[in-house]
Amino acid sequence: MNYRHAFHAGNFADCMKHALLVWLLESLARKPAPFFVLDTHAGTGHYDLDAVPASRTQEAQAGILRLLAADPEPLAPYLALVRRLGLYPGSPSLTEALLRPGDTLACCELHPEDSAELKHLFARNPAVAVHRRDGWEALRGLLPPKQKRGLILIDPPYERPDEFSSMAKGLALGHSRFRTGVFAAWYPIKRLAQVRQFLTEMRDSGIRDVVTAEFLLREPLDPARLNGCGLLVVNPPYQFEDHARDILTALLAAIGTGEPGQCVSVTRLADE
Ligand SMILES: C[S@@+](CC[C@H](N)C(=O)[O-])C[C@H]1O[C@@H](n2cnc3c(N)ncnc32)[C@H](O)[C@@H]1O
Repeated sequence: MNYRHAFHAGNFADCMKHALLVWLLESLARKPAPFFVLDTHAGTGHYDLDAVPASRTQEAQAGILRLLAADPEPLAPYLALVRRLGLYPGSPSLTEALLRPGDTLACCELHPEDSAELKHLFARNPAVAVHRRDGWEALRGLLPPKQKRGLILIDPPYERPDEFSSMAKGLALGHSRFRTGVFAAWYPIKRLAQVRQFLTEMRDSGIRDVVTAEFLLREPLDPARLNGCGLLVVNPPYQFEDHARDILTALLAAIGTGEPGQCVSVTRLADE
């Protein structure tokens, strides 16, 4: 396990994923019944952007720091949480901040140091469980939740060449265990062929009600670069497509560099 999220915290991909995550969580919280969140690849929960890993890569400069300065209205709920939580918040901290009484969060993180840090962060919150456990396996072991409503964030590091295939298998497994759950699966866009293959596999999987939201900083011609990213959402809440389009358009206006091919798209992959 070489990937450490601390080097990438607050980059454009985090902004994209976390702004949509906050919208999804707020939409779950619109109904009073409690919900469950599973974060299969959780990281450490917060990141000091002035410390060595983040300051070495400077990725946050072109991401959250530029976005905070621009402060676009469609991203206001996410940016308010970032300001309130202090250190750059990862997905577990953003989620914890939006839990209500009765809601619970389970985080899986396999890296020994990162999972220990996450455990320490939430040690005093009984609504949050941290497992040093394989997130793929947790899709079988921790689903379905007792609350019957919930969100599953799947955000692996894509270190291994087969991780797109693990994602397709993981979504099929998770969905078979919890058909009404909202699944949010993040993926990198380095080269298009890989992404197209994954989306074809998802289209052929028979899973209904699937939308993809994609954010491209440039045409994906150089496969060595993170040219963009996407979030595939199964069972998106009402009006997700419109809001995702607004959020990503505002994000691109704030942090896009004007390179050829930059764009956002929100596409329905499978009908309800
Ligand atoms: C992209 S980072 C997660 C970032 C986090 N979701 C966020 O948005 O703040 C991926 C994390 O998955 C962890 N990881 C890798 N393989 C794993 C596995 N099989 N199960 C659980 N965690 C894993 C890595 O150590 C890394 O911290």
